[in-house]
Amino acid sequence: MKIGISGKGGVGKTTISAGLARIFSREGEKVIALDTDSSPNLITTLGGAKADIKPLTEMNDLIAEKTGVKPGSGYGQMFKLNFTVDDILDRFGIECNDGVQLLVAGSIRQGGGGCFCPENALIKKLLQHYINKSDYTLIMDMEAGIEHLGRGTTENIDVLITVVEPNLRSVETAERINKLSKDIGIKNNVAVLNKVKNLREKKIIEDKLSELSIPIIYTIPYSDSVNEADLKGTSVFDEDEKLMNIMSELKQKL
Ligand SMILES: Nc1ncnc2c1ncn2[C@@H]1O[C@H](COP(=O)(O)OP(=O)(O)O)[C@@H](O)[C@H]1O
Ligand SMILES: [Mg+2]
Repeated sequence: MKIGISGKGGVGKTTISAGLARIFSREGEKVIALDTDSSPNLITTLGGAKADIKPLTEMNDLIAEKTGVKPGSGYGQMFKLNFTVDDILDRFGIECNDGVQLLVAGSIRQGGGGCFCPENALIKKLLQHYINKSDYTLIMDMEAGIEHLGRGTTENIDVLITVVEPNLRSVETAERINKLSKDIGIKNNVAVLNKVKNLREKKIIEDKLSELSIPIIYTIPYSDSVNEADLKGTSVFDEDEKLMNIMSELKQKL
């Protein structure tokens, strides 16, 4: 499966991305977790690796090697698009707990109709490569916006999960993401409700999302151990097996 995880800042995208990546990997899949956040911290929740990470979008030599153009070397420069990316995982993949391979892409620059710069060309190519490769499970921790990728990149993902927490701002973001993702051709949009403390909260958000016709496939309760791990800078999935069971159930729903 190729899974994108989006939603408003702070809703739990990184936590759920890491949990899904680890459960898919534990259950025998080859998993690539792709971090496209501008402050990449998926590595902490994946656990096991303490490497000093530099996002691919900031590796100027790599971008120049691939595209023939150094980022920022002038507007309107012609760059190559026929480069290969099948060496990137071996060179820059970071092995995390449960055998998940992490690639820290970095943030995709915004610009009208899909910004045309060598950094984005590299990330788009990488995404296309793994979206089309059937022997890998791909889990993408995405920042709220995906529209700047433009067409031709993410429409072939199997499912876009929008994480929602019990507040209306995260529902508004879900509505926006739902519209934009339909515009770029993503077919399966679902919501996961996270950090739920009681049935009343659950009901209010369920009603709102039902008005918007976004199906909720799973609800994750508020958990002190998630917060606690975040405070310590550890991975909750190394500490609380219950959370892993929750991720396994979410995987079943997917
Ligand atoms: N189910 C949960 N219960 C309690 N706290 C949670 C839960 N999921 C996420 N959190 C906390 O919410 C904060 C944001 O989570 P994170 O996964 O980093 O969100 P995002 O990637 O969307 O910004 C973190 O402090 C995290 O520990
Ligand atoms: Mg995050």
